[in-house]
Amino acid sequence: MSIAAEELLEPIASELMEFERRLDAEIASDLGPMASAMSHIVKAGGKRLRPALVILAAQLGDADSSNVFNLAMGIEFIHTATLVHDDLIDKAPTRRGIRTIHEALGPDPAVIIGDYYFAKGAYLLAEIGMPAIDSAISHAVMTICMGELLQMTSRNEYGQSLADYHRKIGRKTATLVSTSCYGGGLIAGLDAPSVESLRRYGHSLGMAFQIADDVLDYVATSAEVGKPVGADLRQGTVTLPLMLALKDREVGTRLQRILAKNDLNEEDFDTVVSLVRGSDAIAAAERSAQEFAREAAAELKSFPESAARETLERVCDYVVERRI
Ligand code: IPE
Ligand code: IPE
Ligand code: MG
Ligand code: MG
Repeated sequence: MSIAAEELLEPIASELMEFERRLDAEIASDLGPMASAMSHIVKAGGKRLRPALVILAAQLGDADSSNVFNLAMGIEFIHTATLVHDDLIDKAPTRRGIRTIHEALGPDPAVIIGDYYFAKGAYLLAEIGMPAIDSAISHAVMTICMGELLQMTSRNEYGQSLADYHRKIGRKTATLVSTSCYGGGLIAGLDAPSVESLRRYGHSLGMAFQIADDVLDYVATSAEVGKPVGADLRQGTVTLPLMLALKDREVGTRLQRILAKNDLNEEDFDTVVSLVRGSDAIAAAERSAQEFAREAAAELKSFPESAARETLERVCDYVVERRI
């Protein structure tokens, strides 16, 4: 975790430590090969954004601590399962700075390990005994799958609209971030309007988070993010920086000419990435992320001031400023 994230989450440091302890114990309770594969990727890190959101949202009300940890762990396992499958589909060699599961063990184990952790996540959530949580999570997973499928079936469609892009990132990323906040509010016994505010907060935050991820894919180094960069373009995933650069007066025409070719070689990919990186599209995409982050922060105004609310506000700045 970067220093910025550690500072930001300092108010919930003890809860996050307890979360890690329980997460390790949950993994260790699985049989040998399942535990070793998962502990590898889980111990490699991860920002733990979703568990932090569960803990903070729950602190806006009054929640039973075992429910908080089960919700945070259930969601983190489901998130990790989506990454295991996403990396298999994308043929990504690294994640969190280490070899991906399909690279280390092969594609078949990666399918099974991902499935196992989807179910394990759902099992922990069922322990809470609130059907609204189970139905929100089931719905979130269905939505993520739909987002990933749409992304797959719209590869190399450079002319897609902003609305298409927003729909895709809303499904693949914002939904689970939103469900983390919504669930935290629900187990804390908040009233319906508050729980809805948290759901909207999480959705806007998740949109900002994914746009920032899409910018990092063009501007960061793989050492910083612990996963390949320039990967979206190579996979045919059209994201906001590229969409905006294609309309840019300086580089748009050149980009369109390169992308019109049937087979792009490594040199073409490198040229496209550096054209996008050097264009005004990066700052414009960052502004769009900031706009979503502002919308997220505005949803918190209806809550009484508290340390948890303040941290949730600071998370809005963090997601757009992060370098990992
Ligand atoms: C990765 O999520 C997938 C996206 C939604 C961009 P995170 O960036 O939260 O991944 P970890 O858990 O910190 O590794
Ligand atoms: C998020 O999108 C993927 C999932 C929701 C599983 P990305 O494809 O951008 O995630 P990274 O960049 O591989 O982490
Ligand atoms: Mg990916
Ligand atoms: Mg990405």
